[in-house]
Amino acid sequence: MNPKTAGKIDGIIKKHSEGHGRLLGMLEEIQRENPHNYLPADSLEYVARKTSIPYAKIYGVVTFYSFFNLIPQGEHCISICRGTACHTKGSKKILDFLRKNYEFEGEDTNDAKLFLTTKDRKLTLRSVACFGQCALAPVVEIDGDIYGNMKVETLKKIIEKF
Ligand code: FES
Repeated sequence: MNPKTAGKIDGIIKKHSEGHGRLLGMLEEIQRENPHNYLPADSLEYVARKTSIPYAKIYGVVTFYSFFNLIPQGEHCISICRGTACHTKGSKKILDFLRKNYEFEGEDTNDAKLFLTTKDRKLTLRSVACFGQCALAPVVEIDGDIYGNMKVETLKKIIEKF
């Protein structure tokens, strides 16, 4: 790990030195600071060493919560809901539009567990089981914002603005 990253993590650890949920807050911020929005193994090891929190505990936390990423993300992230309501209202069409128009890398074998990123690391495509917003189906999350009643045309316009 380079000294600049280590320094940044030191600052984050210091900021989250007390209180309940300090590990979560610390890891969230470290992930946010990463240009590819993920937690590299060396960052997790560094946190374990610096805080004396067992690595196994840290790893348990980052694998339990779905908002933590252990592999690099694209600059923008689109999550498509593949739950029944969204499927019925056309989420597959949205998914296929993205697959057809962008060159994704990664294992594309299971619609329900997709995690693909374009070669240029601009776009990550994920699938989600259900956002709990079924009345708004089909639901898509783009860079943390939820969009309901999504249509291919609307998505195209949003992506064009990236
Ligand atoms: S099925 Fe898509 S939000 Fe529930």
